[in-house]
Amino acid sequence: MSSTVILGIESSCDDTSAAVIVDGILKSNVIASQAVHEEYGGVVPELASRAHQQNIVPVVDAAIKRAGITRMDISAVAFTRGPGLIGSLLVGTSFAKGLSLGLRIPMVDVNHLHGHVLSHFVREQENDPVPEFPFLCLLISGGNSQIIMVKSPGDMEILGRTIDDAAGEAFDKCAKVMGLPYPGGPHIDRLAAEGDPKRFHFAKPHIPGLDYSFSGLKTSFLYTLRDGLKSNPNFIEENKADLAASLQQTIIDILLEKLRKAVEQTGVRTVAIGGGVSANSGVRKAVADYCGANGLKAFIPARKFTTDNAAMIAMAGYFKYQAGEFCRYDEVPFARTTI
Ligand code: KG4
Repeated sequence: MSSTVILGIESSCDDTSAAVIVDGILKSNVIASQAVHEEYGGVVPELASRAHQQNIVPVVDAAIKRAGITRMDISAVAFTRGPGLIGSLLVGTSFAKGLSLGLRIPMVDVNHLHGHVLSHFVREQENDPVPEFPFLCLLISGGNSQIIMVKSPGDMEILGRTIDDAAGEAFDKCAKVMGLPYPGGPHIDRLAAEGDPKRFHFAKPHIPGLDYSFSGLKTSFLYTLRDGLKSNPNFIEENKADLAASLQQTIIDILLEKLRKAVEQTGVRTVAIGGGVSANSGVRKAVADYCGANGLKAFIPARKFTTDNAAMIAMAGYFKYQAGEFCRYDEVPFARTTI
């Protein structure tokens, strides 16, 4: 029997990535991160599209070579169709269409959010553990904070979502007012390791159900800085570790409160986390501790699979390929969509 070889392409934001999965096992995952945005304090969409155009051919080429395959071995090309920056998505989508036509292979469109959830099925070794369905996935990134009930690779239900900022935005925006570089999440994580998480108290939301809100925390953080700076111009510098630790702890408390509620309401015994914020040391530990204390199975992704990568897109594509769900050539990318 011949192998199923999926080439995955991810270009939704500021990482150009390509990966190869052979019979469900990851063979290569190449990521070119775009440094061009650092000096602007955020992703500049037009610059992102141009960088994708420059990166996509060498990145795909490297992924094919590292996997030890040739173009002729590829069974299907899977690509991120959305959500994301439309110009960036167009680069990956157009490339996938060209490759599909040129090689006469099917193409599979992937919802980026499905990719994050299904990243838990990316195996580097045959016996790497994967979650059983159903499981709950806390998807936390720069654009999303959601609790998802995952019933199968193609059947996911959002139980709760943020009504304003995402957890990653809370990290990034608070880091920005502290004068930290973009993206601020990893800097807060690093500083928090040295600080006192109980030193400062920031507002927590009181909203019903399983939805999240982070905008009140952001305002409360800003007021703490403003008040501190009134009496001490060096307030941020002298307290940066405690500010970071207290901010991180508040975000963890907010995330865990609703996650706990979701577990109680659904009775589901397996919990996974995904998205850029799932790289945060405090979040990883809090989820692992909570699951450990309650006899739940926890799936905490390796850090390289938390941020945008094509391995998860190839994985989601592999599931759709097996189900015979292909994409037509007249389909276009979508900037906004949900699960
Ligand atoms: O999933 P992702 O790479 O991109 C999308 O939003 O699609 O997530 C990026 C977010 C940024 O807000 C970034 O600050 C955050 O993930 N992030 C972190 C950490 N690493 C990345 N936040 C907290 N701690 C980290 N270690």
